[in-house]
Amino acid sequence: MALYSEKVMDHFRNPRNVGVIEDADGVGEVGNPVCGDIMKIYLKIEDDKIKDVKFETFGCGSAIASSSMATEMIMGKPISEAITLTNRAVTEALDGLPAHKLHCSVLAEEAVKTAVRDYYDRNGIAYDPSQFPSGEDCAHCDRA
Ligand code: FES
Repeated sequence: MALYSEKVMDHFRNPRNVGVIEDADGVGEVGNPVCGDIMKIYLKIEDDKIKDVKFETFGCGSAIASSSMATEMIMGKPISEAITLTNRAVTEALDGLPAHKLHCSVLAEEAVKTAVRDYYDRNGIAYDPSQFPSGEDCAHCDRA
């Protein structure tokens, strides 16, 4: 069996929604200190919906595929749905990732959530901090 699914290879070779949104309403940048990879998600939000989303990922193929898939999964969705995105859902949508690459999908989940939190912060919208990554807990980096 191939190490990477067709879907991973497709999103790695033809990533969707790559780029920058200059006037983004929320931006989330996260990094994995272990591998050094960095992911940045830009959100355009209108009427509590993700009107547009773009990403820049400086990282491995699995991180690129994960961010590409994550953008497709939240595009057009209400914010309330976008913040429930999990790395497991991203991995499943990609038809799986090798075990030692699961942490790459964690970056995608965290980048989306960090961008939503940035949107909330910019607009003074109250939220439950426990719904978001702390940015200090790197335990998942070597666990996944
Ligand atoms: Fe770092 Fe994939 S190896 S995110």
